[in-house]
Amino acid sequence: MPAPDLLDKRLIFVTGKGGVGKTTIAVALGLRAAEEGKRTIVCEVAAQENASRFFGHAEVGFHEVEMEENLWSISIDPDESMREYMLLQLKVRAMRDLLFRSRFFSYLAAATPGLKELVTIGKIWELAQLDRKVKSGRKYDLVIVDAPATGHGIGFLQTPRTFANIARVGPIHSQAQQLNRLIVDHAHTGTAIVALPEEMPVNESAALEAELRDEVGVAIDRVYLNGLYPERFSGEEAECLSVLAAGENGAVRAAARAAVSEHGRARSQRAQLARLRRRVEAPVKTLPFLFEPELGVEGARQLARRLH
Ligand SMILES: Nc1ncnc2c1ncn2[C@@H]1O[C@H](COP(=O)(O)OP(=O)(O)OP(=O)(O)O)[C@@H](O)[C@H]1O
Ligand SMILES: [Mg+2]
Repeated sequence: MPAPDLLDKRLIFVTGKGGVGKTTIAVALGLRAAEEGKRTIVCEVAAQENASRFFGHAEVGFHEVEMEENLWSISIDPDESMREYMLLQLKVRAMRDLLFRSRFFSYLAAATPGLKELVTIGKIWELAQLDRKVKSGRKYDLVIVDAPATGHGIGFLQTPRTFANIARVGPIHSQAQQLNRLIVDHAHTGTAIVALPEEMPVNESAALEAELRDEVGVAIDRVYLNGLYPERFSGEEAECLSVLAAGENGAVRAAARAAVSEHGRARSQRAQLARLRRRVEAPVKTLPFLFEPELGVEGARQLARRLH
């Protein structure tokens, strides 16, 4: 049976380098899924609070806050995730109190690289369960994660496997394995890589896809090439503009030069799009550059219509 399409999964990680549009596209995917009637939650990690800003909402923190019909948002704080995890795991009250009082988690996290990522993914796993561990928790059809920028490789999604390998036996091992099983479950979990139409970002996105596929084993459902300029002029028109750009009339010359330059950019972006399509296996979809000073929820809504 072929794996379901992106929005029909239960868990989507939106990933890519810093500043490429991950948060914008995570919100756009959330809007789209919610509009299709799916109960959806967009999760931010590392307390960035960018998604809540889209909705002009105050910081949401470690709570599931409704932004629109069918659309919730949460900012996953690792300390809070650890606290919640321990409350669910440790039945002995005195032990829990002791651990919380003693700054236990801060020390443990400092001594254990990757622990914050592990408990963050643990919380994501919990949100994606139909039988929520958190008593007040809702059931979501879709969990969308605005993943951390991949400046440091693929660390985030690889964390469960790394932990499962370090802890060979015991509860950490089996829980890390359980998280990894969700990540590599192509029927329920997928990723969308966000790329920009420039040479280096295209190379990096192709490398990221290969790493996610070969080393993490997660499904890659989509590559979004974000911020594509429109092609406004035909070749003939562009030639005409070049003549004007070298002409005598100052105002016409300035306008024509700007148009020639934008045309050049749009064309080189098309070349990068072609390169990206050759170099990745996942279907590539383009998203237009929106000429607005700051994209709010309406900008994300415009992109949401173009996501399929
Ligand atoms: N299609 C687009 N058209 C115009 N502007 C865009 C588009 N997509 C994103 N932007 C703008 O680019 C900037 C970066 O976008 P965004 O914050 O979504 O990126 P990010 O990958 O989440 O960044 P970070 O890695 O810092 O979290 C924002 O100012 C956003 O409004
Ligand atoms: Mg972001």
